[in-house]
Amino acid sequence: MVKVKLTEKLDSGVLVVGFGTVDKKLKIEPGSSGIDTSSLLSTLIAVGATGKADEVIKLPGKTSKLIAFTGLGEINGNIEPETLRRAAGAAARNLAGNKSICFALPNKSVVEISAIAEGAALGCYSFTEFRGISKDDQKTPTSQVSIITKFADTAAAKQSVKRAEIISEQTFLARDLINTPPSHLTPNSFSLRVKKLASKYGVKVEILNEAALRKGGYGGIIGVGQGSANPPALIHLSYKPVKAKKRFAFVGKGITFDTGGLALKPANGMETMKADMSGAAAVVAAVFAIAQLKLPISIDGWAPLAENMVSDTATRPSDVITIYGGKTVEVLNPDAEGRLVLADALVKAAEVGKKAGGLDAIIDIATLTGAQVVALGTRTSAVMTNDDELCNQFLTATSISGEMFWPMPLPVELRASLDSPIADIANIGDRMGGMLVAGLFLKEFVDPSTPWLHLDIAGPAFNTGQAHGYTPVGGTGIAIRSLICLAELASSHS
Ligand code: BES
Ligand code: MN
Ligand code: ZN
Repeated sequence: MVKVKLTEKLDSGVLVVGFGTVDKKLKIEPGSSGIDTSSLLSTLIAVGATGKADEVIKLPGKTSKLIAFTGLGEINGNIEPETLRRAAGAAARNLAGNKSICFALPNKSVVEISAIAEGAALGCYSFTEFRGISKDDQKTPTSQVSIITKFADTAAAKQSVKRAEIISEQTFLARDLINTPPSHLTPNSFSLRVKKLASKYGVKVEILNEAALRKGGYGGIIGVGQGSANPPALIHLSYKPVKAKKRFAFVGKGITFDTGGLALKPANGMETMKADMSGAAAVVAAVFAIAQLKLPISIDGWAPLAENMVSDTATRPSDVITIYGGKTVEVLNPDAEGRLVLADALVKAAEVGKKAGGLDAIIDIATLTGAQVVALGTRTSAVMTNDDELCNQFLTATSISGEMFWPMPLPVELRASLDSPIADIANIGDRMGGMLVAGLFLKEFVDPSTPWLHLDIAGPAFNTGQAHGYTPVGGTGIAIRSLICLAELASSHS
């Protein structure tokens, strides 16, 4: 956990200052610390600093032991909140080993304080649980972050750092779950961990085990999980504030490991399939955060968990399963498993939502297709929908959160490729436009009158490249902040 606070003057031996370029010339952005760092400009030029994003230059300081200059890139007028968020994150990452860090980045309003607080806290993440004899070589993570601002004693600014603490706490939970190897994260251990935390945050939790799933008719989750020695489960979280303005359901894909089943994936890259539960982790983290923030939105969080393995009990290509509610699916490719567990959970979520008075939105989050990564790369996620108004609201939320999402279509003509000669639907269709075909499959399990979003986060969920900004290597926690922002937007509407 990272503590974040506001201060009017330097309160740590480590100071972070922003710098960038104006008309190609290097410039220090002093913030409101009152500390004169201008004499260091010539040193920055001498060491060849460029001021680009993700550049962090550490120099010995006078007032502080250490000054870290973090790149803001080209500065022309206003500095975007996401630029500050990333610059703060990059600095925090580069300063691991220092218990406390003080940020003197430019801020003129709560929006900027908020961004700096989030980026700084998110950049403090580390995952050392599985270090054995090398544990002691790891740098001590930063546990205290302070932000120099003139607004240190305004209520809104104080609230924004509290919020940043909550966001980092829950994002760290999601990152931990994603990074935990499948030897240690099974549907069962995932459920137990979530159950313990739910009581801590005052969120109601119910876990359906394998027997309950079989009895209840959850053919998707059972079918995907039946090849594994680690039985599947379905987590249901529910947060109900007294005066709720809206009711949302979040549904997250929770494949604790995806071998591809009998459509076995090649060994090269299979290791990243421990991250195939990133949607479930995002749902859990977002529900906990929304509960901690006490937002006036009811949320049901659903996480269908299973391990997609190869064995004599695994689903065969051509097997037919029955999804919760009765629709049958011909499983032509056991590697298209995410949509099967999601189908069960989407139908169940709608049923429970209806009983409670109807859902204002149902949102699924999943590392669903390799096609998503082909289309949008590793940093931009996709959003598909049956409701443009909800989608636009979500895109507004992402512009606030700083997470990159891009709208994708669900073209009707691709739907026929999912027709099965023997069952209601097949689990694969056209390979071209595979991300959209997966979306069209899910759409079959959603009530057309309920606003629905499908978030495919296959690429951005797990960073196999270099760390950047506030994003570490490994699990990222993508989608959590946008879900929170969407709930906040919905809270401020009447
Ligand atoms: N978990 C994968 C999708 C994935 C791929 C996530 C790469 C992250 C990075 C999913 O279960 C899968 O295997 N999808 C198949 C679907 C295909 C068989 C229709 C795919 O994308 O190849
Ligand atoms: Mn798969
Ligand atoms: Zn998968």
